[in-house]
Amino acid sequence: MTTSIRSREHAEAPGALRETWSSRLAFILAATGAAVGLGSIWKFPYITGMNGGGWFVLVYIFFIVVIAVPIMIAEILLGRMSRSTPVGAFRSLTHAHSPWLTVGWLGVVSSFLILSYYSVVAGWTLHYAVLSAFNVFAGLNPEQITAQFQSMYASPTINLIWHAVIMSLTVLAVLGGVKSGIERWNSILMPLLLLMMVVLFGKALSSTGFLEALDFVFGPHSERITGRGVLEALGHSFFTLSIGVGCMITYGSYLAKDESVVKNSLAIAGFDTLISLLSCLIVFPIIFTFGLKPDAGPGLVFVSLPIALSKMTGGGLWGLTFFLLLAIAALASAISLLEVVAAHFVDEYHWSRKRAALISGLTVFAFGIPSALSGGTRLFGTDFSHLTGHVLGASQSRNWFDTIDYLASNYLLTLSSLGVALFLAWRVGEASTYPNFAPGGGSRRLFRLWLLTLKYVVPLAVVMVFLNLVGLI
Ligand code: TRP
Repeated sequence: MTTSIRSREHAEAPGALRETWSSRLAFILAATGAAVGLGSIWKFPYITGMNGGGWFVLVYIFFIVVIAVPIMIAEILLGRMSRSTPVGAFRSLTHAHSPWLTVGWLGVVSSFLILSYYSVVAGWTLHYAVLSAFNVFAGLNPEQITAQFQSMYASPTINLIWHAVIMSLTVLAVLGGVKSGIERWNSILMPLLLLMMVVLFGKALSSTGFLEALDFVFGPHSERITGRGVLEALGHSFFTLSIGVGCMITYGSYLAKDESVVKNSLAIAGFDTLISLLSCLIVFPIIFTFGLKPDAGPGLVFVSLPIALSKMTGGGLWGLTFFLLLAIAALASAISLLEVVAAHFVDEYHWSRKRAALISGLTVFAFGIPSALSGGTRLFGTDFSHLTGHVLGASQSRNWFDTIDYLASNYLLTLSSLGVALFLAWRVGEASTYPNFAPGGGSRRLFRLWLLTLKYVVPLAVVMVFLNLVGLI
């Protein structure tokens, strides 16, 4: 008797009692919050800078539309059709022992791994917001500003404290659940982000380096795009839209049946791309105005930008605005990553949300400690590239932090995206997918085109990324 009640509860729990977003806007804000993050505001400008702008940006936009958006649609659909988190999603569309469940597990594990170091970098942005608030950069020369970054990177205390702050905020948001947690936090964070973005863009627009930046970002510089750059654009299109770790499956599982997944996905990708491009048009004008180079790499935002800010009147205030903006974006993304892990425990093991959020948050925090210590301790700062093996391109030395990032954002992300695409296109198939793709009966042509993309184009693109990673092309 008890068993049968329990098993019925088990079967019904995900669908029947599931919370849903209170409106379309709420979903778009939350999913945009997941997408817009360090990837869009920190990484996109620096990889654009390293790849010479122009063509790189065009190629990136092409991949967003042709590869990443179709996968995003697939993920959201999978979530909505199954009304469950990644592992449950694959189970409900196959059976309890299907090998496809591995793809769901891959997503949960990748979210966990990504959040463990993502939170450390998110912490840096808060640290830099505080430094800017106290106008620390104003009195320093470029060498001192470079040394400042290095000393932060090397400090266990600074890294651990901010890592703890970010993880605590993230847990607080996830604790509240879909409506009064994630949705409410995003409804404050996202408008704030947009407002700060507009203010900073206004400032950049009036700077002398703006036209040069505009030409750098949108002008064609054919001689500079490389094969590697093309694949970097492809890889980044996955990361920036938060696909491949079950994040969109989870957020999609809270989406109402009658919402158009295609339109919503296009809106989310559109917002994310807009913010990424705006970030370039905020960062590069400042960089060019002060005669700095655009190809500084990861230090572009944490070193070059503060150097420029130190020479600007009111630089402290502008720096504070910029780094807070970055912190807000990172926090909304961190929330989405923790939600995948926490909701997994709620769905699969029927934990209360409170318990799931607290325990997953604490575990991610603990697992992130080595990343927080990678810049400043022998133990985690040494080479860990053997963990990823020779096949996985171990020729470069990587500390713990770099290794986890490399593994999760290059391999796990693309592998699980491939899994989602193959699963929907080849296993779930046309008949069950179409009614969900277009609830009111939408264009068959568009649907077929999308399915063909998942069947052939996405696998081809992922294989190219892999061959490039292992050094074969
Ligand atoms: N997309 C976010 C960024 O650009 C990071 C992120 C959040 C993410 N959730 C994710 C990346 C899921 C990959 C998968 O910073």
